[in-house]
Amino acid sequence: MNDSIRFILNGEDITLTDVAPTETLLDFLRLKRRLTGTKEGCAEGDCGACTVLVGRLADGKLAYESVNACIRFIGSLHATHVVTVEHLAGRDGALHPVQQALVDCHGSQCGFCTPGFVMSLYGLWLAKEKPSRQEIEKALQGNLCRCTGYEPIVKAAEQVSL
Ligand code: FES
Ligand code: FES
Repeated sequence: MNDSIRFILNGEDITLTDVAPTETLLDFLRLKRRLTGTKEGCAEGDCGACTVLVGRLADGKLAYESVNACIRFIGSLHATHVVTVEHLAGRDGALHPVQQALVDCHGSQCGFCTPGFVMSLYGLWLAKEKPSRQEIEKALQGNLCRCTGYEPIVKAAEQVSL
């Protein structure tokens, strides 16, 4: 019986065997892959600091959803594409337009929440060309920020969709 878990992590094919049923995607990313751009805040699905995208094939196309890596078990990721914040920069190190918009609009202060916001906004950027303010707010509803007051982040989302 083949009981391995296979998925794509950013651009890398991952095959795992003997996965503990309670191993989270967040621990796998940070402790085993050293992808520390994905942050641990609450570790219980409330703050969004650990947001990554998970893509699944649907009707022949990859559909991505933002997920909290701290409460997503590795065993549920078979046949998916997991995207972390490290995947967004260009080959030359250039920021993704979503990241640049956050810089331009001063959407980051202490920065701890920022990778999570980037990933939620990236998911929206993939899904919608010109999201409404309501759609932006809905995309960000799982992300908490203690510093910015949210308005600069929403402005960044509006700017990137221009
Ligand atoms: Fe807060 Fe995952 S660390 S939602
Ligand atoms: Fe500090 Fe968001 S920039 S928590």
